[in-house]
Order: sequence, then structure tokens, then C-alpha cells
Amino acid sequence: MNQKIIFAAVVVAATAAVFLLAPSPSNPPGSQKPPNKTSSSPVSKATLLKGGVLFFQNCMVCHGKGAMGSDNGPPLVHRTYEPNHHADSAFYLAVARGVRQHHWKFGDMMPLPKVKREDVAHIIRYVRDLQKNAGIF
Ligand code: HEC
Repeated sequence: MNQKIIFAAVVVAATAAVFLLAPSPSNPPGSQKPPNKTSSSPVSKATLLKGGVLFFQNCMVCHGKGAMGSDNGPPLVHRTYEPNHHADSAFYLAVARGVRQHHWKFGDMMPLPKVKREDVAHIIRYVRDLQKNAGIF
């Protein structure tokens, strides 16, 4: 990897950190506002941050910034990949075994043996959060 890419990676990760860790203005500390969405397992900002960084390091080159797709791979923030169509197991499988081209025309996805299962778990939470925010499910 050349220096510029590493530098860009650090900048984006730092920006993501600031963005994700900043307290949300709509919910100042002390105001015990109940969450407006009923979710059995609220995802912590730390988890999302970790997932975002891991996504950035391992997936973004193909799946694009914010999982919106790139010239090398499809968006994961897309109806095709909502949980009822591609459950979390599809993510674990994709990383462990790779994916044969079938939905798109980008070619195959290679397996990514260096990305551990627990890392994929973080990435999944990150991607699901993006999908949810995009109104996909
Ligand atoms: C070298 C490019 C590349 C990288 C890196 C990459 N992907 Fe992919 N991925 C693809 C392509 C291309 C497809 C689409 C294959 C198709 O359906 O035609 C895909 C498909 C997928 C799918 C759908 C699987 C299915 O069952 O259809 C998931 C989930 C996925 N990728 C997750 C990830 C995650 C998570 C990472 C990072 C850990 C990652 N990918 C990194 C290229 C990549």
C-alpha cells in the first residue's frame, strides 16, 4: 500500500471516529429520552465504529464508501442484501469462502481469510445500521 492510501485511511478512520463518538445533539446527556425505535439489541457506537474501521480496511475497496458500491463491487446498502434476503450467515460465508459472481457483473469476490469471524460480526452490525438508516428494512 502506498503512503497516500495509508494516510487517507487514517484520515477517514479519524473522521469516522469523531463523527460516531460525538454526542448526538438531539439527545443531550441527562435527558432520559427513550429510544424511538424498539430494538432488542441496541448497537453501541463503539461497535459501529469498530465495524466501520474494519469495513474500511477490508471491504471498502470494492463495496465502496458507506457500502454504497464502487467500480469493483456492488453496494451492500441495497435491497438485495437486506436481512431477509441475505442473512448474516451470507456475510460470514462471503468472507470465508468468497462469492461467485451471480447478482452483478463485477466478477467473483475472493475469500478474505485474514478477516476473523468476530471482525465480520462487527462489519455486519455496521452494514445493517447503514441499511436501516437508508430505510432498506
Ligand atoms: C475484491 C473486491 C471485494 C472485496 C474486497 C469484498 N467484496 Fe464482497 N463482494 C464482491 C463482489 C464483486 C460481490 C458480488 C458477487 C455477485 O453477486 O455477483 C460481493 C458480494 C458480497 C456479499 C453478498 C454475498 C452473497 O451471498 O451474494 C457480501 C455479504 C459481501 N460481499 C461482503 C463483503 C465483506 C463483509 C467484505 C469485507 C470483509 C467484502 N465483501 C469484501 C467483491 C468484494
